[in-house]
Amino acid sequence: MEQKKWETHNPTGSRRVIVTKILPGSLWLERLIKADCKVEVCTSTDVLSVDDIKSAIGQQCDAVLGQLTEDWGDELFGTLEAAGGTAYSNVAVGFNNVDVDAATGHGIPVGNTPGVLTETTAQMAVALTFAAARRTGEAERFMRAGKYKGWLMTLFLGELLWRKTVGVIGAGRIGANYARMMVEGHKMNLVYYDVYPNQELEDYIAAYGDFLKSRGEAPVACKRADTLEDLLREADCVSLHTVLDDSTHHLINAERLALMKENAILVNTSRGPVVDEAALVGHCRRHPDFRAALDVFEDEPAMKPGLVDLDNVVIVPHIASATRWTREGMATLAASNVAALLRGYPVWNQPDILPFLEADAPRAAPSVVNADDLKLPIFGSR
Ligand code: DGY
Repeated sequence: MEQKKWETHNPTGSRRVIVTKILPGSLWLERLIKADCKVEVCTSTDVLSVDDIKSAIGQQCDAVLGQLTEDWGDELFGTLEAAGGTAYSNVAVGFNNVDVDAATGHGIPVGNTPGVLTETTAQMAVALTFAAARRTGEAERFMRAGKYKGWLMTLFLGELLWRKTVGVIGAGRIGANYARMMVEGHKMNLVYYDVYPNQELEDYIAAYGDFLKSRGEAPVACKRADTLEDLLREADCVSLHTVLDDSTHHLINAERLALMKENAILVNTSRGPVVDEAALVGHCRRHPDFRAALDVFEDEPAMKPGLVDLDNVVIVPHIASATRWTREGMATLAASNVAALLRGYPVWNQPDILPFLEADAPRAAPSVVNADDLKLPIFGSR
């Protein structure tokens, strides 16, 4: 096994914390150092294996800040517990790479980083929607290949989404934000599919529709689809914002792709396995006017055979949350989770997580997904 390189900060700290990737910004490190942590950061860009992480944890380790690319299951949580570890945080809002039950079984709280990815990820989904609709990837490749001979009426004709229908699957924070950007920016009607209604979103769009009417413009409409199939038949572009679990694995498969309009657009910034990627390759091959835009892949970082050759697919390397503010915020929240748990602070109880991005943060862990199961104390409660 290749030895990975690690750099150590605050070598005299009394608590040993492992960070499996370099993180942006400096507040995250300040927060750990303030909690008297010796912080060891892996400087390799390779994805760490379970064995790499086990060997980094070693005989004694108090906590780990890990990545969504790592397999945090029984083996790693068992190793962490045996090393005296009492805290873990994913540096991500999603935690499908974490077996939370296993962590709970080993008594280890699992932190995540909600609240700082919302607008950034929604913006990227918008960017991908229009990259697909207006064929910017194809057009850029054409330019760079020196193929542009002059303005042509028929060059790279795309889709105008103005006043059409946007479909959102999963209307949580990010999905609802994307929906508003599309509806407000492009006066689109919204159809969403979610097991829970999002009344706030529906009310917002109804109020926006009333505003448009008051200006003499046609209103916009919003409805919750009864079935996923209804949404897929109706929408001109569809954006996925679900979590990945057994119920959403291959949610978009060959049969459901076949229901979509011939010239529809499918955007995925959620998790790769939500889409049956091999089926998508086949669908895009057979339907050149259909477009897909993917930030995430089923076997990330690999792509299914044939995907890379398709001009009607836009592909980017899981960068939907990659703005400086968001990534620094994610690092700060993950470090705040671990620092607070090591200090025995309670778990934050409010949706507004932004106070943790200030130098003077609340004395709490911003977000711990198994706080209830572990019966951790909640901020402000007696
Ligand atoms: C997350 O945090 O779950 C995102 O996928 C990172 O972009």
